[in-house]
Amino acid sequence: MTPPRKLHIKSYGCQMNVYDAQRMVDTLAGEGFVETASADDADLVILNTCHIREKASEKVYSELGRLRAAKEEAARSGREMKIAVAGCVAQAEGEEIIRRAPAVDVVVGPQSYHHLPELLRRATIDGRAIETEFPAEDKFGFLPQPKREAIRARGISAFVTVQEGCDKFCTFCVVPYTRGAEVSRPVAKIVDDVMRLADNGVREITLIGQNVNAYHGEGADGRSWPLGKLLHRLADIPGVGRLRYSTSHPNDVDDSLISAHRDLPALMPFVHLPVQSGSDRILAAMNRKHTACDYRKVIDRFRAVRQDIAFSSDFIVGFPGESEEDFSATLALVTQIGYAGAYSFKYSPRPGTPAAEMRETVSAADMDERLERLQGLIDSQQSAFNKAAIGTTVDVLFERAARNAGQIVGRTAYLQPAHVMAPPDIIGQVLPVRIESLERYSLLGELAAPRDAHKKRPEPSHITIGA
Ligand code: 5AD
Ligand code: SF4
Repeated sequence: MTPPRKLHIKSYGCQMNVYDAQRMVDTLAGEGFVETASADDADLVILNTCHIREKASEKVYSELGRLRAAKEEAARSGREMKIAVAGCVAQAEGEEIIRRAPAVDVVVGPQSYHHLPELLRRATIDGRAIETEFPAEDKFGFLPQPKREAIRARGISAFVTVQEGCDKFCTFCVVPYTRGAEVSRPVAKIVDDVMRLADNGVREITLIGQNVNAYHGEGADGRSWPLGKLLHRLADIPGVGRLRYSTSHPNDVDDSLISAHRDLPALMPFVHLPVQSGSDRILAAMNRKHTACDYRKVIDRFRAVRQDIAFSSDFIVGFPGESEEDFSATLALVTQIGYAGAYSFKYSPRPGTPAAEMRETVSAADMDERLERLQGLIDSQQSAFNKAAIGTTVDVLFERAARNAGQIVGRTAYLQPAHVMAPPDIIGQVLPVRIESLERYSLLGELAAPRDAHKKRPEPSHITIGA
């Protein structure tokens, strides 16, 4: 028997890349690869890259420099190390990667991961292999299911891709170019995946897609189902205690999604809803196709059906032409909404996007200063949100043993980490926890009720922030 070959994958960027990395591991398991934690002793290293901002993109090339040295070292000791670049940089830059980093053997775009075994064989014969086409066939039909042991090892929370690509073409964003047009997976396939995960101990499913609430997959009735209807179907699967979805566009929030939040206790009251800016002038230049007022109305629709709902968002500061007044409108929107957390980024021009051609750039100093102010405001909202949990009893889904002996860590509905002293058999259960204190971003508390209390599905905890 040949010994297993070692595979090391390093993922950058979004949740989709984390999910894709697992699919690559599952695909290559069939070729005798097992995962290893270090690149140095690997037979194959895959960099699963992100192209969303320049910084993310440039990391790849510095990592490839280090890997070249590791590859040469391996060759000196008579071992072959192959290097593959996957993800959105692979898609966007293709052959350019091999020109800049000749140690790379394989370049593979996100739609072609099911071809990885063949690409590796081609690289062995031809010296290298590149595939960045959008193949006609659906890769999901070819990607193997994870093995039961692999699902168990990955824990009680799992991502499931339901939709890929984006048709929105925000002027700053590379996603429509790197991930292509919106495609939704059929309902039956997603139900199969979720049932298999739930059968193997997964309790929390996060449906992911670049624009997840544009989901319009084919249902059992042959019609196109919106995300809300899909969520209703998935909530019926035994064992699925929690459902989430990410990332959404405000314009694609429809009544089915709002009713899902009203009707499904398993659907967590925490929604990531990027707005990017609070200025209508900038939103128009970004081609977001909504105003700040439209966004506030969407938030109100969620809040009308679940008072305990909380939001996170993404913001870009320093988009071309952003004035101090535009930026103030962003601060005003943040103040009005009141977030449980949010990500904010300095605008980074991406080659090939319309915004990269815009002349009125904002100075680096202004961007830094705006980012600091925005992050300060968001941090204070996040702290207030976390502090509000102290003294309340909240449901926690326990995930794993914490670093401190005897402690188990889980997450609240709002993804806040929560620690309790308890035996490890609570892992996988949702239990009420009385929150006593806050340590940085982590809640500390005590189990609040007898251990079988979760069987009676506890009431959702009511924490609200903002107006
Ligand atoms: N510059 C800065 N931030 C960007 N994002 C996307 N493209 C850019 C860019 N060119 C941010 C947006 C998006 C998040 C995933 O990344 O806020 O929602
Ligand atoms: Fe990018 Fe999101 Fe806009 Fe699509 S909706 S172009 S993924 S920012």
